[in-house]
Amino acid sequence: MHNMHNYYIGSRSFQGKGCLVKSEIQEIEKQGREAVGGVKRQPVRVGLVGATGYAGRELMVLLSRHPGARLVHLMSSGRHRRESFPIERVHPSLRKKESLICVPLRESELRREDLDLVFLSTPHDASVELIPPLLERGLRVIDLSGGFRLRNAELYPKWYGFEHHAPAALEEAVYGVTELAGEAVQRARLVANPGCYATAAILALAPLLEAGWLLKEAEIICDAKSGVSGAGRAPNETTHFVEVNESCRAYGLFSHRHVPEILQALHLDEEQFRFTPHLIPITRGILASLYLRLEKKRSREEVAGLFEKFYGRAPLVRVYADPTLPEIKAVQGTQFCDLGFSMDETGRRLTVVSCLDNLGKGAAGQAVQNMNLMFGWDEETGLL
Ligand SMILES: NC(=O)c1ccc[n+]([C@@H]2O[C@H](COP(=O)([O-])OP(=O)(O)OC[C@H]3O[C@@H](n4cnc5c(N)ncnc54)[C@H](OP(=O)(O)O)[C@@H]3O)[C@@H](O)[C@H]2O)c1
Repeated sequence: MHNMHNYYIGSRSFQGKGCLVKSEIQEIEKQGREAVGGVKRQPVRVGLVGATGYAGRELMVLLSRHPGARLVHLMSSGRHRRESFPIERVHPSLRKKESLICVPLRESELRREDLDLVFLSTPHDASVELIPPLLERGLRVIDLSGGFRLRNAELYPKWYGFEHHAPAALEEAVYGVTELAGEAVQRARLVANPGCYATAAILALAPLLEAGWLLKEAEIICDAKSGVSGAGRAPNETTHFVEVNESCRAYGLFSHRHVPEILQALHLDEEQFRFTPHLIPITRGILASLYLRLEKKRSREEVAGLFEKFYGRAPLVRVYADPTLPEIKAVQGTQFCDLGFSMDETGRRLTVVSCLDNLGKGAAGQAVQNMNLMFGWDEETGLL
């Protein structure tokens, strides 16, 4: 492992129930190195529930070229397609890449004998139902939904509209912004993969908050835009083509589900952070602008230096030290989060621009990055 950072903030304790012990981690790391080296070790066997969705498709693309993982099981809900079918029937772009058969959900078939890891790319409430039995069977899980992102079960009715019935799994889940939680992810049985907007905002703010550079009394404003794939594959009244095309619409003001995970990860109060997401007529990509006030005057070089030091060993975060600002085109189809910034002449007003692909670093890319840490590979394996 060359990427064990020493700047984790907001990470959870990984000691105790539900976590792997040191000898198990060492064995996994050893096997992971051997797998990438191509000797002895069988590939990590991976199952995916939610294969028919957008994030599921992205996971399949990444896993199909990963040197140490092998996809062996695909499942969808079974509601629309009751029989098994070749996955390329739903995702034509996977033709010739994956010839796997997708089966309707049969949770009891996700077994430790056949699998080492399960990705869930399913709706939040479905993940909450599915995960406890998987953990009981000794499987490791990376969940792309919000079902296990919030530590406090009492927040779920307010932000997600359902009661959370899996408090034990919630307690052991590791919130996986990889750059901030690396060591905890390495030992986790259950990783709650962060939201796409949340990843963009957290990576932009973490260096400044950790250094204590932000004026405490000033509200942090995050103005973000997302492509429509962020809403998933099933169209609805606000996401179908005619509604979105040639428009830009704000939504979820003061109520977006990514707010509580951002507050939790960065130890902020609700009044300290205002988030306004917008839907824009592109397929994929997020651009978040963060309007900030610094506690004291800083130079451009100081701010660039802070970000470069913080992310110096993070292979999937690109800091723009020059005045160029990140844009969606530069991250579409990549697994990077790009960070750039601009300052006014007083040296106290700062705008950070954070850009990522919602299906890449905002979902599947980060999930694979977390898998890499869990199985002892370098975090960027299969992602560059
Ligand atoms: N899209 C993004 O940019 C993004 C980013 C970060 C995180 N996420 C999260 O990742 C998850 C998947 O997102 P997505 O955009 O890929 O959604 P999606 O395109 O709507 O796909 C959802 C997948 O879940 C399956 N599914 C639905 N209900 C299920 C159930 N009760 N049991 C088992 N499987 C079920 C669907 O199968 P059927 O086809 O059979 O219905 C489909 O394969 C969501 O939790 C989302 O919040 C998405």
